[in-house]
Amino acid sequence: MANIFDAASRKNSVFIDRRVFDPHHSPSTFNHRDSQIRTMVMNLADALEGHIPGNMILYGPSGTGKTAATRFVAQQLEERAQIIGSRVYTHEINCQHVNTRYRVLHGISETLRESGDQVIPFTGWPADRVLSETIRRMDRQGGVHILILDEMDQLASRSEDQLLYDLTSLNVLLKQSRASIIGISNDIGFTDKIPGPIRSRMSAEDIIFSPYSSNELSQILVERAKVGLRKGSWEEVTMRFCADLSAKEHGDARRAIDLLRVSTLRAEIAQSETIEIEHIQSAHKQVEHERVIGLLQGLPLHQKLTLTSIIINERNGVLTQTTGTIWETYVQACNLAGMKPLTSRSLSSIINGFHSASLAHVKNVSLGRRGRTKHVSSLLPRGIDAIRIMCENNDAINLAVNGTYKLQRRL
Ligand SMILES: Nc1ncnc2c1ncn2[C@@H]1O[C@H](COP(=O)(O)OP(=O)(O)O)[C@@H](O)[C@H]1O
Ligand SMILES: [Mg+2]
Repeated sequence: MANIFDAASRKNSVFIDRRVFDPHHSPSTFNHRDSQIRTMVMNLADALEGHIPGNMILYGPSGTGKTAATRFVAQQLEERAQIIGSRVYTHEINCQHVNTRYRVLHGISETLRESGDQVIPFTGWPADRVLSETIRRMDRQGGVHILILDEMDQLASRSEDQLLYDLTSLNVLLKQSRASIIGISNDIGFTDKIPGPIRSRMSAEDIIFSPYSSNELSQILVERAKVGLRKGSWEEVTMRFCADLSAKEHGDARRAIDLLRVSTLRAEIAQSETIEIEHIQSAHKQVEHERVIGLLQGLPLHQKLTLTSIIINERNGVLTQTTGTIWETYVQACNLAGMKPLTSRSLSSIINGFHSASLAHVKNVSLGRRGRTKHVSSLLPRGIDAIRIMCENNDAINLAVNGTYKLQRRL
């Protein structure tokens, strides 16, 4: 009798190593970020001689290789330090999860814990005590400590100023060691949020990571395919197709690799021994749907109210939506939902965020002497009922959606 697992047999699998497509996989080679890596190396080479490297902040949209490039450089630095007997240590903290001053300091000191050390509790100590314990441990180890703060823009506001103050003061307080900071941010406007005096103390060199081009993505995909996919199951032109789609939409290597992973699954489900263009096309649709649904579900309340307002305007036939027409509807939506509206400036930055997330197309237009505005249209894939998704388990959005709106002028 046939076994229900027969068809799922991995014998003819297109994958030979799925882990290569895992978001946490570190590739053995790292290309296409030469100038950024060169700048980092020039700064960090000072650490090998016991000097303090300049602070750096890496900026760029997600999937542009910031984390991977930094890890590659950090690993090479530690390797080199070991060979030449120089004391250089790197400590990586992801501020998305560890997002307060206390927890970041706690995280750094934990990487320096030795047996016999007091365990610092997750909460409860005065933050200054955590700071002095961190300094004590850094000095005990000596050498140069490179503090890598990934996703730095995710630090809770108020925490970030004090933390950056602490970290930029370290070299005054440390006696037997030195410290330098590498900050990583997806938000290019991040430094504007840091108070001027702290920014100038930090005097960080900015390193920009731009979205990858189609050529670069194509090479990245071919490198992965060579180790992760069965020989003969793919061709360079198919990788190129995948790369073209990704470059046109975002230039994000993480998403391009994921598109290739899902395309491979599609080929396997279709029991095809090769990955064809049609597998990439249907994978693309699936990935895009899942991405948008996930984004919509995770939007904070005022983002939801703003997007709801844009959709309501579209339904009411407002042809050219501007920041002004969205604002009018948004204020009504907030009233219906029983929420206090944010400022129009915050609304404007929410709308810019939609553009970065490809939820809306936003074009800045000049009104001559009357200033500037934005022209906005939603970019939701057909077949997605955005309002229904945003309403799920959300009373405020339900109230906003089911109310009546003052009819807008048709522009
Ligand atoms: N130049 C590259 N070569 C190979 N893989 C890359 C490259 N840049 C990024 N990647 C891969 O793409 C994914 C996202 O990169 P990551 O460094 O996490 O992006 P970011 O931190 O900018 O959001 C990771 O899986 C990483 O291995
Ligand atoms: Mg990252």
